[in-house]
Amino acid sequence: MNENNLNINWYPGHMAKTKRLITDDLKLVDAVAEIVDARVPVSSRNPDLLHIIGSKPHIILLNKADMADVHITQKWEDYFKSLGIPAIPVDSKTGRGINAFKDTVKSALSGKLAVYKEKGMTGKKLRVMVVGVPNVGKSSFINKIVGNNRAKVENRPGVTRSNQWFSVDKELELLDTPGVLWPKFDDETVGEHLAFTGSISDRILDIELLAMRLLDILIRYYPKMLDERFKITDFSDEQYDNLCKLAVKRGMIIKGGEPDTERVAQKLLEEFRNCKLGRITLEVPDA
Ligand code: G4P
Repeated sequence: MNENNLNINWYPGHMAKTKRLITDDLKLVDAVAEIVDARVPVSSRNPDLLHIIGSKPHIILLNKADMADVHITQKWEDYFKSLGIPAIPVDSKTGRGINAFKDTVKSALSGKLAVYKEKGMTGKKLRVMVVGVPNVGKSSFINKIVGNNRAKVENRPGVTRSNQWFSVDKELELLDTPGVLWPKFDDETVGEHLAFTGSISDRILDIELLAMRLLDILIRYYPKMLDERFKITDFSDEQYDNLCKLAVKRGMIIKGGEPDTERVAQKLLEEFRNCKLGRITLEVPDA
């Protein structure tokens, strides 16, 4: 693989299977909740999903909202709402936003709940399939929302993967994604953004190149944050020079006085990933 890009070609084969599984299981649910990473809401989506779920009611969870830029998260909420898709910021580590999710599902499907009530179908629950690409926080979300109702739903006739159902409360059940939903890895920007957030292993990438690209984005969109953390304002157009500048500023020098660009690259990515630089979003709706 060329270290400067991420041409990974196994996406279609894996997706064909997942697509089939999701299509089959869609018949069992009333709505789909799609989890995305609020810092990279485009790159952390599967590009075929909209087509797969068709006209099923759809809700988006902007997860890891605790690490994302609040103003841009609001823009994403507005953007998705303008498309008729309710979007809710969630922090699946603390559970913040989870009640809003339950309320949104129930209000989006209130007609269905009313029909169940009218027909005396007490005990019939709304069912929602939770989908998301790996590392987006799907397990964390399900664990948080299911809480003490850890007991999974009993076997159901005709449903082989019964262990993927979770009871949330007396009105709501969740179905974990059947199969693995992949992001569009073969797009270079998507690959980079997922690598910045730590969703793709560093080991297959050139760490300095990755850090230079991240630094470039931060210089353009978060210069104040860089100034506050590193006290550097005079970045140039040369990505490598900028990484060197950062290394020198942090005292990361190797024998001979050269800047330790590999070490500073690792540090920059680490600080971005654990939110030490601040709350940063890399993708905005109008781009
Ligand atoms: P997945 O099922 O979609 O693959 O993702 P998973 O829940 O395993 O979450 C992936 C990582 O993202 C985990 O971190 C998890 O703690 C973290 N995470 C999930 N949701 C949120 C969130 O809303 N906010 C924050 N800040 N982090 C979130 P990890 O480093 O792999 O594990 P650990 O930190 O839990 O030890």
